[in-house]
Amino acid sequence: MILDPQTLTHQDAYKLLLGSVVPRPIAFVSSMGADGSLNLAPFSFFTVVASNPMSVVFSVMRRGPEATVKDTLANVEETGEFVVNIVNEALVPMMNASSADFPRGVSEFEAVGLTPLPSEVVRAPRVAESPINMECKLLRTVEVGDGPGGGTLVIGQVVRFHVRDELYDRGRIDPDKLQAVGRMAGTTYARTTDRFELARPVYVPEPSRP
Ligand SMILES: Cc1cc2nc3c(=O)[nH]c(=O)nc-3n(C[C@H](O)[C@H](O)[C@H](O)COP(=O)(O)O)c2cc1C
Repeated sequence: MILDPQTLTHQDAYKLLLGSVVPRPIAFVSSMGADGSLNLAPFSFFTVVASNPMSVVFSVMRRGPEATVKDTLANVEETGEFVVNIVNEALVPMMNASSADFPRGVSEFEAVGLTPLPSEVVRAPRVAESPINMECKLLRTVEVGDGPGGGTLVIGQVVRFHVRDELYDRGRIDPDKLQAVGRMAGTTYARTTDRFELARPVYVPEPSRP
């Protein structure tokens, strides 16, 4: 099967991408509007950008046929700050509940029963129940389409990294204690308990011939 994206509806393109790019980690993003209102929402179009400067990226798609801007992007554009909270198994029900279309100004912290914890550097609070929080300052946004199905990359520099002491051992995160989850397509999620080891190869050049 060969598919030309130009011939697909954006909904079908979305389903193909969601089923193919799996599993995806979940950024549980807390943000604050200029008026001080709080917001919390999950984003699985999420990854690392660089370690120097320490930076992450997530993508906020437009909402619905009207292609409206989601509250998270509006807040990040207003304040230039946000927090990425990592989702573990215990947080999944609240993370999912927070993804409903709450109107702007309604705090998902309150709506789903999570605790806002003051951050050190940014105004947006952290999720107290999350094992890892990354306080971020916006580096830049990159808009990739502003119609239905369009998305905006939000690239942030991590200015404070919080990790629960029991997860952290000599610079490494213990995956068994972290219990991170990933998102598959639709309503399917993945645990991170089925893992395997694979050593990286070392390239050895052929000896040069006389
Ligand atoms: C696990 C999960 C992952 C999601 N990933 C994304 C994503 O990467 N990009 C996006 O625009 N919406 C994503 N959503 C949907 C948003 O969370 C949802 O539209 C939310 O209402 C946005 O909230 P906001 O308007 O408060 O920013 C995801 C939802 C779930 C449950």
